[in-house]
Amino acid sequence: MTTRRRFLQLSAFTGAISAALPAFGKQSTTQNKPVVVSTWEHGMPANAAAWRVLSQGGRAIDAVEQGVRVPEGDPSVRTVGIGGYPDAEGNVTLDACIMDENMNCGAVAYLQGIKHPVSVARLVMDNTPHVMLVGEGAKKFALEQGFVEENLLTDEAKNDWQQWLKTREVQQINIENHDTIGMLALDNKGNLSGACTTSGAAYKMPGRVGDSPIIGSGLYVDNEVGAATATGMGELMMKTVGCHLVVELMRQGASPAEACEGAVERIARKLGDYKAFQVGFLALNKQGQYGAHCIQPGFNYAVQDSAGSRLIDGNSLLRGA
Ligand code: GLY
Repeated sequence: MTTRRRFLQLSAFTGAISAALPAFGKQSTTQNKPVVVSTWEHGMPANAAAWRVLSQGGRAIDAVEQGVRVPEGDPSVRTVGIGGYPDAEGNVTLDACIMDENMNCGAVAYLQGIKHPVSVARLVMDNTPHVMLVGEGAKKFALEQGFVEENLLTDEAKNDWQQWLKTREVQQINIENHDTIGMLALDNKGNLSGACTTSGAAYKMPGRVGDSPIIGSGLYVDNEVGAATATGMGELMMKTVGCHLVVELMRQGASPAEACEGAVERIARKLGDYKAFQVGFLALNKQGQYGAHCIQPGFNYAVQDSAGSRLIDGNSLLRGA
């Protein structure tokens, strides 16, 4: 089927489910649980850490925090945590958020010198009346909570940045330049949670914050319905509040895969320059069903449940070159 034909069919589908609110389809009552899903291949070891929590009956919120700490602490993952690409001035600035089954959420943005932003976000959620802390305030809070400041710019990232300074070519998140880990989990009690963490776009403008720490854009969880997370060019998710949209489409009866496809279709319909970028949505519903969709081919996601662990290619709106 041509991309255009599929696109038109999907527009009709998402229009139809909007019109059919609220009783579209009937969800299965059996649950595939526990289960954890996360973006990209770096999701495989992250899922393994989350599974250690879930398989022992632990909470989804603890699983996603432990899970995404793995790529945050791995300097070979160049788009999350320590070793992440710096901004145009050579500063590694990290964004993360976390959300549980009770609509509790916490986020940090533009955080420097702290390796595990997701755990700082967790403490914003648990220990403050706020949802988001940024920049120096987020760092001050992290240090007060016992985090240790460290240099996050590895020699490899510094060398790459110094090479980039020679051309200063604008980097955008497309098929060659991908990023964030977003993780969603459903625990044994049937509760959903999610986390999302990134160093953001390589060599970004100083001060730039993407979708990853923004509740509704890079992550959203509604324990009645499902959860969604995103990867790719954050500005596109922010303009469409993409993850909230995915969850609302699931509320209207879409499967996780259909809901992700609907959000990609919304971006394509609203944002004229979408073909230049990569965006991938990943969703998990209350029944433990999961699915994904992206703009460009090449996005994959990791799944772990009682059937084992695997890496799955997401379907894409556009075909390869
Ligand atoms: N999705 C990560 C970012 O745009 O920063």
